[in-house]
Amino acid sequence: MAAKRIRSIAVMTGGGDCPGLNAVIRAVAKTAINKYKLDVWGVRDAYLGLIENRIDRLSYGDVSNILTVGGTILGTSNVTNPFRLAVAHGRRMRYKDVSDDCVKALADRKIDALVCIGGDGTMAVAARLAKKGLTIMGVPKTIDNDLYGTDVTFGFDTAVTTATEAIDKVHTTASSHHRVMIVEVMGRYAGWIALYAGVAGGADVILIPEIPYDLSKVCEYVLGRSQRGKCFSIISVAEGARAKDGQMVVSHRVAGSPEPIRLGGVGNKLANDIAGQTGLDCRAVVLGHVQRGGTPTAYDRTLATNFGHTAVELLMKGRKNHLVVLKDGHFSSIGLGRVANRIRTVPKRHELIRAALAVNTCFGV
Ligand code: F6P
Repeated sequence: MAAKRIRSIAVMTGGGDCPGLNAVIRAVAKTAINKYKLDVWGVRDAYLGLIENRIDRLSYGDVSNILTVGGTILGTSNVTNPFRLAVAHGRRMRYKDVSDDCVKALADRKIDALVCIGGDGTMAVAARLAKKGLTIMGVPKTIDNDLYGTDVTFGFDTAVTTATEAIDKVHTTASSHHRVMIVEVMGRYAGWIALYAGVAGGADVILIPEIPYDLSKVCEYVLGRSQRGKCFSIISVAEGARAKDGQMVVSHRVAGSPEPIRLGGVGNKLANDIAGQTGLDCRAVVLGHVQRGGTPTAYDRTLATNFGHTAVELLMKGRKNHLVVLKDGHFSSIGLGRVANRIRTVPKRHELIRAALAVNTCFGV
């Protein structure tokens, strides 16, 4: 059967915000308007806007001058799952499937396809909506760089740049005060930011979720440095890192969110544990959402533009329910079903881990 002709598309941003979202929106809308004369719509606040029927026309002017701007002009949400919408009933939460409302909101406006820019949670929901008949093209977003199927997500390079600058800055405090400075970066199940920023910033210790650490090895390493006259150490730790015999440090939970666990606190825990075992002066800095803000790097702007353009080109060729990916230097796509509920973690034998080990970086093992 011939693919349905696409005359009108909508674009939405889902999950945590990320540098480069606006660059993708711009590339999607400008390609669609300029090259294919499509009607373009913007969904407000991710799936929440679909559920609440908040979808507006996007003109060429609406997407001008946003290439370098952080955040998303459409708004986003990482707490809304249309298949399990949390609704308060007094002091209790009940969960409703309102996914049909999403389908109807698009059908009512005769929107033929939806470009979903998001991470694993957004793609898992997109894959389910596709089964209800929607035509979807995903674009891989997340500073964590952990989306399955693509070699890189946009936003990661900017986050690594921000985290590297932070590590560079704490070096002076660490050496002046003879301290162990711990920089906690984002990365729930994958330690890409901690690894790349750690190597770029010359961290002495890098702790990532993929390699549970042995506290005594970390302590031995930083004490050894002190004894050799290097009276300070820098530790780059992913928020999802955990001790071999411990758990991830959960800060709180968000009911109804596709990814309900919010992490945070491993940096302070490490500072206490290392100080307790070594007597060294330790401090932790939690970078948090600083990593998600600011203007995207040149790399992220170009990657985002390529992703947005490719999303529209693939839709116009009849491809649907796929995620645009960059694989081995080429833009292509893979089925949403293959991406949903999977994470791309750092392989233990990754080349950057091997390089870091060669320059004597400790991974706590
Ligand atoms: O997935 C991106 C991410 O930034 C994670 O690294 C982090 O754990 C989470 O989002 C934080 O989410 P929130 O914005 O709800 O605090």
